[in-house]
Amino acid sequence: MQRTFIMVKPDGVERQLIAPVLAKFQQKGFTLVGAKLMQLSKEHAEAHYAEHKERPFFPDLIEFITSGPVFAMAWEGDGVIDEARKLIGKTDPKEAAPGTIRGDFAIEKSKNIVHGSDSIESAERELALFFEQSELVGANKQTSVLSK
Ligand code: PPS
Repeated sequence: MQRTFIMVKPDGVERQLIAPVLAKFQQKGFTLVGAKLMQLSKEHAEAHYAEHKERPFFPDLIEFITSGPVFAMAWEGDGVIDEARKLIGKTDPKEAAPGTIRGDFAIEKSKNIVHGSDSIESAERELALFFEQSELVGANKQTSVLSK
């Protein structure tokens, strides 16, 4: 079973869009296995977006993502990495299809509500950057009360 990392960005938290974003993934049938509200440090943000560090927008991206709390989530399900990206929509909300999160809730590329891992490698790296194993439900089934 696949897992992915999804994050409601500060614009989404401020606009009270955590619940609609959660609903989108739940309605599709995916399972929430971890979630927390966090204020990212500059170091954490730079590590998360390290692949973009040479891009001209990198300073703006770091300033934006640390400007307020984010809502970090781990979702589980069959093909959840690619399916979540489809539910989120294209990076530029103007190109995102109606019905997607960005298509319905955003206008600007720099304030596009939500982040989702784009590959198996990114999902593993990002989940490890945001969550301890003990924070993920079912991560250690041997010690789970439900499995006894
Ligand atoms: S993509 O899909 O990777 O090609 O998109 P890209 O244009 O490279 O953007 C990568 C992430 O940077 C965000 N972004 C910005 N944030 C703040 N300010 C500005 N100016 C800006 N430009 C791009 C964009 O939303 C992508 O964020 P994530 O969280 O990865 O979706």
